[in-house]
Amino acid sequence: MDAESGADPVRAPRILLGVSGGIAAYKAAELVRALVREGAEVQCILTRRAEQFVTPLALATLSGRPVARTEFGDEPAPTILHIDLVRWADALVVAPATGNVLARFARGLADDLLSTVYLAFDGPVVVAPAMNPRMWDHEETRENVARLGRRGVTVVPPGEGFLACGDEGAGRLVPLEEIVAEALAAARRSSSLDGMHVVVSAGPTYEPIDPARFVGNRSSGRMGFAIAAAARARGAQVTLVHGPVALAPPWGVETVPVRTAGEMRAAMRQAARAARVVVMAAAVADHRPAAAAERKISRREPYTLDLVPNPDILAELTAARRAGQVIVGFAAETHDVVERAQAKKKRKGCDLLLANDVSTPGSGFEAEDNRVTLIDERGRAEPWPLMSKRQVAERLLDRVERLLARGEGP
Ligand SMILES: Cc1cc2nc3c(=O)[nH]c(=O)nc-3n(C[C@H](O)[C@H](O)[C@H](O)COP(=O)(O)O)c2cc1C
Repeated sequence: MDAESGADPVRAPRILLGVSGGIAAYKAAELVRALVREGAEVQCILTRRAEQFVTPLALATLSGRPVARTEFGDEPAPTILHIDLVRWADALVVAPATGNVLARFARGLADDLLSTVYLAFDGPVVVAPAMNPRMWDHEETRENVARLGRRGVTVVPPGEGFLACGDEGAGRLVPLEEIVAEALAAARRSSSLDGMHVVVSAGPTYEPIDPARFVGNRSSGRMGFAIAAAARARGAQVTLVHGPVALAPPWGVETVPVRTAGEMRAAMRQAARAARVVVMAAAVADHRPAAAAERKISRREPYTLDLVPNPDILAELTAARRAGQVIVGFAAETHDVVERAQAKKKRKGCDLLLANDVSTPGSGFEAEDNRVTLIDERGRAEPWPLMSKRQVAERLLDRVERLLARGEGP
């Protein structure tokens, strides 16, 4: 195993293929063949309803492995099947995914083998829904799909056309080549940052005015937390330095809680020393009170708040950059977003910069979603569509990996 590139040149990608009970399940046999042809090892999981549409024997023969059908296995066994399966797999792919499967995944139910595996699996998940257009357009399905997207599940949306039920519209399983490509990309992603040290900062900083009050900002920390979770899911060893937030730490990530810009600066400098990738997603306060009062300032006293600039952590990190390190900055802007972000990237010397327009409702601070513009390594602006913060994180890490592979930035 090459610890820096994350690539294991020998081992075949291992894919758990969940097949649920829609009419398109008959295509699962062809999908298994296509994945095996591409060099993947495939372990099928069939829901009880899927067995009405495709036989376990067909999938077992084509995959070369017995099909997993219930949480308890076909024989009493000393091991726990769903845990064995998730430990083995690089990616979980569900094709076709019924409306029912999307709902169970979105709500975290674990009442059959496939949904239990989903809940126990922390690697990349791809779902390819197929169903009647009215089911696909139903508000519940829409909400479930959005929810899964927010958690980092890749949803390959169905195509349009005539369906087996006689209706026409969106609901057909996409061509199998698309599912194969997503499945292989997901399996690769599960170890693409294997063993690499990634440091992420997140959230606001609070600069004390007195023991009771502070100067802060509206950053929720969600963007940085999403990047930390996505990097961890790609096999990275992640340190997350974060200001005061109301979020649960992502699984498997080392967290360093801080309060002030000064504390964040010290923690980031320390953590970045050994890091290959540094993402400065925190909204560090630009200014702090010149001096914090030791006692609570009373309403009766006239009071003027004097502010002094905080250190520029991103600029300091790029100035101290070690060879091979890729550094990503963020910019929260309210006007002239692209011009200001391009100038900021140049000034700070980072490799990539993501600019947020924090004046747009439903995007940026406190929101679940984000519409960002990437300023790439050459300073070109690339607007990305509105996406969940996890999707932004995945796309950003794809770009970081491209720089790492080219040996650029460093
Ligand atoms: C003939 C037939 C075809 C069906 N096709 C679909 C389909 O394409 N997509 C879907 O979401 N549900 C479809 N259903 C409904 C599902 O089988 C049903 O929701 C079932 O509970 C799904 O179970 P599972 O998700 O555990 O496999 C179909 C049902 C029948 C009887």
